Amino acid sequence: MASLGVNIDHVATIRQARYRHGAVGVVEGTEEPDPVLAAHEAVLGGADVLTIHLREDRRHVNDRDLELLCRVARVRVNLEMAAADEMVAIALRHRVSSMNGGRPQMVTLVPEGRQEVTTEGGLDVAGQQHRMKSVVERLKGAGIVVSAFIDADLAQVDAAGDAGFDCCELHTGPYATAFASAGGDFRVGAGGAALAAALERVHDAGERIMARGMRFNAGHALNYANVRPIAELVGIEELHIGHAIVCRAVFTGMRQAVAEMKSLVAGAV
Ligand code: PXP
Repeated sequence: MASLGVNIDHVATIRQARYRHGAVGVVEGTEEPDPVLAAHEAVLGGADVLTIHLREDRRHVNDRDLELLCRVARVRVNLEMAAADEMVAIALRHRVSSMNGGRPQMVTLVPEGRQEVTTEGGLDVAGQQHRMKSVVERLKGAGIVVSAFIDADLAQVDAAGDAGFDCCELHTGPYATAFASAGGDFRVGAGGAALAAALERVHDAGERIMARGMRFNAGHALNYANVRPIAELVGIEELHIGHAIVCRAVFTGMRQAVAEMKSLVAGAV
């Protein structure tokens, strides 16, 4: 059964929507909702991993969130970040001060665009081998598990293997788009064929990841409707899901929303 990583950035997005420009009647430190409290609820719902993305412009998650999460989390913390020197230094510092049960902390390297609402495409590992190798080496040297968020593309998988990554997280956005366009039906017409092809690309890239000795993870735009075929892929180790869980949490609460996703992932064995 794949583990479930819950991305709590979207809780920070709600907080920042209100407080970004300083709201009247707010005392610093009392801003809400607190992504660290959301993380606590996510763990009670069954999250195996907690993911946050510290962006260079800090527009959602901030340094305080990361610091606190690393101190209090009793499951693994996965830090998404750009392959920038400032971020590497932060990851190394938190690794040292982490009270995260002594468990390995993971870093997932992602591309970062200033205007994007969420991560849009996979990291181009093939196009920046030298830089990737150096960043991976520094992080692995500190005992951090390092993952590359890449498109389901065999050349990118091979480049990630050559750069020394421990894991690849395949970008499931194109699969999710195909799923929505086909209404989730693999059997009917051009939409079904496109959906089957999108799933096949994730499958093939996943096989190559494992053949190269890396761990096979996936994420992005997965939801309660489309998660099952991805969770059923043989050898997949971890799914990283944020938006759909936080959306459902608005109605059910975080604990319940995570538990429902967890049971879908568990049912896919
Ligand atoms: N994986 C990575 C690398 C991401 O950047 C994101 C988006 O924050 C996710 C997974 C989760 O995507 P979503 O919020 O669409 O579930």
